[in-house]
Amino acid sequence: MSTKVRITTLQNMKAQGEKITALTAYDYTFAYLLDACGIDIVLVGDSCGNVCAGYETTLPVTMDEILYHVKAVRRGINQALLVADMPFMSYQESCEQAIHNAGRFMKEGGAEAVKLEGGLPVCETVRRLVAIGIPVMGHLGFTPQSLHEFGGYGVRGVEEQEAERIKADALALQDAGAFAVVLEKVPAALAGEITRSLKIPTIGIGAGVNCDGQILVLYDLLGLYDKVKFRFVRRYADFATATREAVRKYIDDVRQQKFPDESESY
Ligand code: KIV
Repeated sequence: MSTKVRITTLQNMKAQGEKITALTAYDYTFAYLLDACGIDIVLVGDSCGNVCAGYETTLPVTMDEILYHVKAVRRGINQALLVADMPFMSYQESCEQAIHNAGRFMKEGGAEAVKLEGGLPVCETVRRLVAIGIPVMGHLGFTPQSLHEFGGYGVRGVEEQEAERIKADALALQDAGAFAVVLEKVPAALAGEITRSLKIPTIGIGAGVNCDGQILVLYDLLGLYDKVKFRFVRRYADFATATREAVRKYIDDVRQQKFPDESESY
C-alpha cells in the first residue's frame, strides 16, 4: 500500500536513486485516476491555459482560473503531492504579491506546494515563501512564461554561457530553500550535471533520462491534445482519435435511432 507523498519522501527517493513520477492534472476525474495509479506528484500546471482554456500561450491564464482547477484536483487526490503553478504576473511584482497568491493556493485550493519559474531573480521570493511554510518547486531551462523573451520554443542552455547560468540558478534555488527543480527542454548532459550537483531532486521535461524524475502534460501523454507534439513527448495513448471515433459513432447512433435502446430506457 502506498503512503502519502511528502517533500521528505521526494528527498529520500533522490537519496535512494528511486525515480520520481509527476504529471499534470486539471480536474477531479483525472486527478483521481492518477492518484490511484500511484503517481508521486500532481501538478496543476499553467498549461491548463493551453489545454483547458485554449489560450495560445500560458501568459493569459489567471490565478482564479488555476485556483478553480486546483480545488477540483484536490478533491481527487489522497496520496500524491499536490503542486499548484503560479501563473504569469502572480509572483513577479513583489514578495508580498507572491505570498498572497501562493497563500490562496494553499489555503483556498488545498495545494501542498507551489511552482514558479526563474532562477536568481525569484530567489528572494522563494526564500520568503519557504520561511513562512510554503514549499516551492523551481522551474528552469525553457520557462514558458518567458516565451517572448526567448523568441521561440528552442532548447535552452545549449550555449556555454546560458548553461552556466542555468547551473548557477539551480544552486541558487536550492540555497533559497526550493524542494525540487523542474528542468525543461535543456540538453540531457546539462540536466545530468545539474542533477548530480544538487541535493534536491530535479524533475525533467525534455531534459533526458538523468533527472531524478520526469513530468509530462497529461493531455500530451494521453494523446488528447494533438495540435502540436514536441520531441520530448511520448504519447502512451491516442485519446484524440478514440474521442473522435466515439463521438462520431454516438452521432450516427442518435441519428439512426440506435441509441438509446430498450436496455438504456425506462
Ligand atoms: O504548466 C505545466 O504543465 C508545467 C510543466 C509541464 C512542468 O509547468
